Parts: sequence; structure tokens; C-alpha cells
Amino acid sequence: MSARRLGLYVHWPYCAAICPYCDFNVYKARGQDTEPLVSAILGDMTYWRAQTGKRPLSSIFFGGGTPSLMEPDDVRRILECADNLWGVTDNLEVSLEANPTDAEAARFQDLRHAGVERLSLGLQALDDISLKGLGRFHSAQEGLSAARLARTIFPRLSIDLIHTRQGQTLNAWQQELELALTLSPDHVSPYQLTIEEGTAFARAASRGTLRLPDNDQAADFYNLTQAVLSDAGFEAYEVSNHAKGTANRSRHNMLYWQSQDWVGVGPGAHGRLGWGKARRATKAHLRPQAYCEGINQNGHGILEDEVLAPDAIRDEFWLMGLRLSDGMVVQNAPGAPLPEDQIQARVGQGLMWRSATHLGLTTNGRLVTDTIIGKLLAGET
Ligand SMILES: C[S@@+](CC[C@H](N)C(=O)[O-])C[C@H]1O[C@@H](n2cnc3c(N)ncnc32)[C@H](O)[C@@H]1O
Ligand code: SF4
Repeated sequence: MSARRLGLYVHWPYCAAICPYCDFNVYKARGQDTEPLVSAILGDMTYWRAQTGKRPLSSIFFGGGTPSLMEPDDVRRILECADNLWGVTDNLEVSLEANPTDAEAARFQDLRHAGVERLSLGLQALDDISLKGLGRFHSAQEGLSAARLARTIFPRLSIDLIHTRQGQTLNAWQQELELALTLSPDHVSPYQLTIEEGTAFARAASRGTLRLPDNDQAADFYNLTQAVLSDAGFEAYEVSNHAKGTANRSRHNMLYWQSQDWVGVGPGAHGRLGWGKARRATKAHLRPQAYCEGINQNGHGILEDEVLAPDAIRDEFWLMGLRLSDGMVVQNAPGAPLPEDQIQARVGQGLMWRSATHLGLTTNGRLVTDTIIGKLLAGET
């Protein structure tokens, strides 16, 4: 049996509206009959159980899209099926991503009864002008009320916020973060707004009608975020993730960052599984209809299925693992070691640290995580 932990990711692709910055695999909800998709997800899970063998799940994550639009009974069916197929560990984490509209908040109690114990609430901003600028359809008041309600229902609450927005000042961001902290979350994910190719924001940026703060200003937003959350007792355990104590880290995302195993079901879901000494990377059909057809015709929803080359396994280990403030155990790293002289140089520049067993990035290093790791893996100075 594999020593790696196993998780299940369930992708729910529908959203009430498509946000102008989002490049996830999402489709507008138009009152479609979603029963075929739920049945397909259950069928796909049966396929994956045969691939993984019986290994208990340590986490189940409903992501999207907007899984808070799911019928709570469908969430319950998927959780029951997962338990029957794999079984679960004693400290199973069940998370679900939610949008903070009144309609969705009305389902919180039923989602909790269905088995969700950790809600990840996409507040994004806490003032109406910024929410409008982000193309969101909820008000700041709705966001605050949904978070307060969620706090009374779910044992664990995480909130997502987006900073480095057009016209945002550091002062306003500090006040927003402080207001968010009055909601008593135990986990905060403050993301820097990124312009993703193919989105409405990318088109606005190329027309010049959207202008975001520059890199130096982005660094100021990052540093302010670290300071405010650290003062409030949150540990920055990953580049954009802060938790009140180790127990409140996202156990599911830890699977990704620590190169563990997870099965991905639902349209466009990715998965990773140890495969003997190799590692299998899978991706499901993107469109809900193609995904359902795949399962009806072949018994699974796989679009791409690849055995990763040793270099790719090594690169993923470091790319994901160095995002963690704890760093990674060097001895567990697969493949060729990272170039020693280049590690030394970055330790000297205050960008990396190393202990007898671990290698990691400092707070300054995590500010430019992708650049540092990209160069290290390419052997560049
Ligand atoms: C799957 S998405 C959204 C979950 C939920 N549907 C919502 O919108 O609240 C997860 C998170 O990614 C973040 N996100 C998505 N696109 C982003 C972008 N272009 N820049 C920064 N953060 C982004 C948002 O904070 C969002 O809550
Ligand atoms: S940000 Fe959330 S609600 Fe908006 S399109 Fe993306 S997944 Fe859907």
C-alpha cells in the first residue's frame, strides 16, 4: 500500500455569473438538469477506486466553479459514495467553496448536515465599489452576513480576498483586512489579483482600461498582508495562505504542495497518483457534456493521462513544495539534486534558508517564488 496520503477533488463547474478575472473551468448556470453530472461524478469515482485500491481518504474538497450552488443532497450522495468506496481517515477534512450571496447562504445549514465541515468563502473584497469593479454580484453587506452565518454553522471557516486591485490603496487594504479579521476566520487566503489570458480583464488590460499596481506596489501589498495577519496570530504557511495554528492549515491543499496523491473528478479536474516508482497525471474532459459522455462510453472522464517523466516529478516537487514556509525535506526529493552553488547563492541573498534536513524560501524569497524556483530548476543564476 502507498505511504502517500490520498484526497478527492470534486469540481463543480457552474457559476451564477462568470467573473471577469477568472480562468477556471467554469460555465454559466442556466438551470441545467445537473443530475447527469452528479451521476457521472459518482461513476467516475467508482472507476478511480479501482485504480487506487482501497486507501482511506484524508480529505475531500468541493471546488469550482461554485459548489455552493450544488443541491446539498448531491453533496451528501458524493460523500456517502466516497466513504463506501474508499473509507476515510479519522481526521477527514471536508471543504466546500462558497460564494457569499443570500441564496447560497440559505443552504449553509443543509450543506453542514450533508457533511461539509470547512467552508471556504469567496468574499474577494469588502466594499461595494471594489466588488463591482471585480464584476461580483454580491454586496459587501451580503459578504459580511454570509461569513457571520457561516461562522455559526461550520467548525472551520476560510475566507478568500483579492488585493492589488485597480486603484486600491494600502490604507484601504489594511482596513479591509482588519474588517475581515472581525469575522473570526481560522484561515485566510489573500490572493494578488492576476491577469489571466483569455479573460475579460486581460482584454481590458490590453485596451488600457484596466491598470493594476506595478510590481513594487504589489510587493508593498504582500508585505502589509504578512504584517497584519501575523499580528493577528496567523501563520503564513504558504505564499497566499495563512492559518491560525497548524490544525487550521488546508489539509487538502497540503496534498498538492507536498506531492501527495489525489483523485480529481468532475469536468476539467486534475489528479495525481503514485504509479509504482512513477507518477500519473490526469485531467478530465473540460465540458460537462463531454465529461458525462466519456463516463457513459468509457466508464471514466479522462481526457489526458500521462506518466510524468522523472524531471517533471522533480520539478513539481520543488515548484509546489517551496511554496510552504516549512520548506521540504531534501532527502525526500525525487530525481537530480538542485544545484548546490545556486542554493548557496540564494541563501547568501536572504532568499532561501536551509536546515540539517529542510530547504525553504524566506519571506522575501516567497515574494518572488516562481522566479526563484524557475531559475533554480533551469540551473540559472
Ligand atoms: C475557484 S475560485 C472561486 C470560488 C468561488 N466561486 C468564488 O468565486 O468565490 C477560488 C479563488 O481563486 C481566487 N481567484 C480566482 N481568479 C483569480 C485571479 N485572477 N487573481 C487572483 N485570485 C483569483 C479567488 O479569490 C477565488 O475565491
Ligand atoms: S471567481 Fe468563482 S464565481 Fe467567479 S467565475 Fe470564477 S469560480 Fe465562478
